[in-house]
Amino acid sequence: MTSFPQNTFNAKSFGDNFTWGIAIAAAQNEGAYNIDGKGPSIWDNFSRRQGKIKGGAKPSVACDFYYRYKDDLLLAKALGFNSFRFSISWPRLLPDGTGRVNKEGIAFYHKVIDECLKLALTPYVTLYHWDLPAELEKQGGWTSHHINRWFNRYVTLCAEEYGDKVKDWIILNEPIGFTSLGYMLGKHAPGKTGLANFLPAVHHAALAQADGGRIIRSLVPFAHIGTTFSCSEIIPNSSRPEDIAAAQRADILFNRLFIEPLLGKGFPKDGFKLMDKLEMHNTAWKYTNRYQFDFDFIGLQNYFPIVIKYNPLIPIVQASEVKAVSRKVPVTAMGWEINAGSFYNVLKKFWKYGAVKEIIVTENGAAFKDELVNGVVDDQARIHYFQQYLHAMHRAQKEGVNIRGYFAWTLTDNFEWAEGYNARFGLVHVDFKTQLRTIKNSGYWFRDLLGG
Ligand code: BGC
Repeated sequence: MTSFPQNTFNAKSFGDNFTWGIAIAAAQNEGAYNIDGKGPSIWDNFSRRQGKIKGGAKPSVACDFYYRYKDDLLLAKALGFNSFRFSISWPRLLPDGTGRVNKEGIAFYHKVIDECLKLALTPYVTLYHWDLPAELEKQGGWTSHHINRWFNRYVTLCAEEYGDKVKDWIILNEPIGFTSLGYMLGKHAPGKTGLANFLPAVHHAALAQADGGRIIRSLVPFAHIGTTFSCSEIIPNSSRPEDIAAAQRADILFNRLFIEPLLGKGFPKDGFKLMDKLEMHNTAWKYTNRYQFDFDFIGLQNYFPIVIKYNPLIPIVQASEVKAVSRKVPVTAMGWEINAGSFYNVLKKFWKYGAVKEIIVTENGAAFKDELVNGVVDDQARIHYFQQYLHAMHRAQKEGVNIRGYFAWTLTDNFEWAEGYNARFGLVHVDFKTQLRTIKNSGYWFRDLLGG
């Protein structure tokens, strides 16, 4: 057995009631894309379009969690976690997005939740992790003003079905992720581009995160409610004023856009013209109060810092990223900078808002080029990554940031969106031909940390 470098912390260092969790998502793990009455999601359709996903990969089978959830939950338990974050597939419950309810879909999540409870894994349920029902996309998806009615109906259904068993709820997964990649840049489903799609999608997602919180609050007694944000430290490439201003615009888009309306501050502006356009939606519709909701926690998700330089050729933001590979810093297999100090800075930054009561790190992890050799995946780089990031989190917590939980991303290698199956983030290796699971050494490292 490989020996690991010494940790500067142990599980208890973070507090007795700390949530140690592992996270997955429906479209990335479940498979069974057309089984038992599930309707198609935008990812099922998007993955059928030529050239959209590396290797032509599809989420149709993924890691077959739909059939293997019991085994996978046992794995999560065996690795020492006390909580399990998963998302509900909207088109599995409502194949057309609205209207007809699919009883078999409802039953599936009851089974997953019951199994979690049986194993003493606290279920953290994400309501929307990017798999919009394809039927709703035909009617405009997140750009349509009907989306809020559709979404609220779906959230109500989930709260009524599962609210007596599930107390920990996450409304949206990374709204800037699905609005920018899916409705501005066309790199994710549904593959739309341009401001005419992006701005209404942002407005509707900002309403949805707050509306969703209110619905869960009103229907689920003792609910603990949060929503997640992708959070990246934005670092100007130089001290030149143009670079600093460009970094500020990027910070608005990447970090501030969704949390500030939620905290009642409205959309951030600071002279960024794009925000005036967004504000036009808001002024016309006078929704400022409806953007706000008093969450119990925010789900902070961190993967990498972003270095930004001024670039007049890029429309709207006039900024571009200086990629980590060109800066010769340590990177993951995704080319994402490994920088635990930046994670620490982000935790401090979001805590500074003051109005955030509790932070739960709802995702953090890394893809590496794992190799399965003689039944072993010796992913020392991932172990080192988690060691550094947990050390940084411990430091922030000791300095007063109220961090109450940490979810590693992710349990098993899975369908990594536009990257297909090549980017492996799991603590457990999956052979996608046979579905054979092999616990990586990073998984054993977590087991030793959490169990020891
Ligand atoms: C998403 C996950 C994704 C991970 C790694 C996060 O932005 O929530 O679904 O797999 O990043 O790319």
